[in-house]
Amino acid sequence: MNFLRIFKKPNLIAAHRGDRSKQPENTLSALISSVGKCDFIEIDVQLSRDLIPVIIHDDTLGRTSDISNIERFAERIPWKVADFTFQELQSLDFGSWFNNKKEPILTLETALYFAKEYQVFLNVEIKEMSETFSDARVVQIIIDLIQRLKAQELVLLSSFYHPYLPLCKAHAPKIPTAVLQEGHHPDNLIQYLHTLKADAYHPEEKITDQKTVAYLKKTGFFVNVFTVNDTLRQKELFSWGVNGVFTDLLLG
Ligand code: G3P
Ligand code: MG
Repeated sequence: MNFLRIFKKPNLIAAHRGDRSKQPENTLSALISSVGKCDFIEIDVQLSRDLIPVIIHDDTLGRTSDISNIERFAERIPWKVADFTFQELQSLDFGSWFNNKKEPILTLETALYFAKEYQVFLNVEIKEMSETFSDARVVQIIIDLIQRLKAQELVLLSSFYHPYLPLCKAHAPKIPTAVLQEGHHPDNLIQYLHTLKADAYHPEEKITDQKTVAYLKKTGFFVNVFTVNDTLRQKELFSWGVNGVFTDLLLG
C-alpha cells in the first residue's frame, strides 16, 4: 500500500503549499490548517547549505521570510536558500510576512512526522537544485529521511526537474513519482513517462486538455493538475477524468 491508494477516490483536492490562503505557505500552521479540508497536501522541498531538507517554494528567502529586515544578512542578497545553513534559516521568521505571527522554517523531517501523526498524505515536490548539489545527493538525502521516518506509504514525490524521478525510483521503488510539467507536454508523453518510471503526470492547468487526459488515464497514469482555484474549472477537469487538482483555496 502506498500513496496511490488515494486515487481510488475521485475528484481529489490537494492543498497547494498547505492551506496557503489562511496560513503562511509551506509552514506547519499551513499543514495543520489543511487537515480535514483536502485529500493530500503539497509541499516544496530544498536543501540548506549543510544539506538539511527544508520546506520552501522560492529558491530565495526574500518573499516568505523576514530576511530583508536583518542587517547581518544584507550583503548576502539575493538570499539563496542553498547559501544558508540550517542554523541561519532557523533564525528567520517565515510567518510574519503573511499574518504577523512568527513561524519557524518547516523541515521535511517535521512535515513527515506531522503526516504520520495525522495520517495525511503528502506530495513532496523536489525543487531543482542541480546547480548547487549533485542530483544523486539530493535524492539520496530526501529518500533516506523518508525511509528513516518510515513515511514511504504517505508520500508522492514530484519534480519539474525530471532527472530526479528515475533516481527516486532506483532508490525507493515503492514510493510513487509524478512528472511536473509546464509550458507544453513533452514529446511522446506516454513513452516519456514510462522512461522516467513515473506513476502520475502533473501538468499546469493551462496546458491540460481533454484528449491528453483521456489518453493518460487509458494508459494507466494518474493526473493531477495545478493550480486550479476556480471550482467550475475544477469540475470540468474532473469530468475529463482528472484525478486531482491543486488549489490555494480550501473550503471549510
Ligand atoms: O506541485 C504542484 C505545484 O506546486 C507546482 O508549481 O511552482 O507552485 O511549486 P509550484
Ligand atoms: Mg510546488
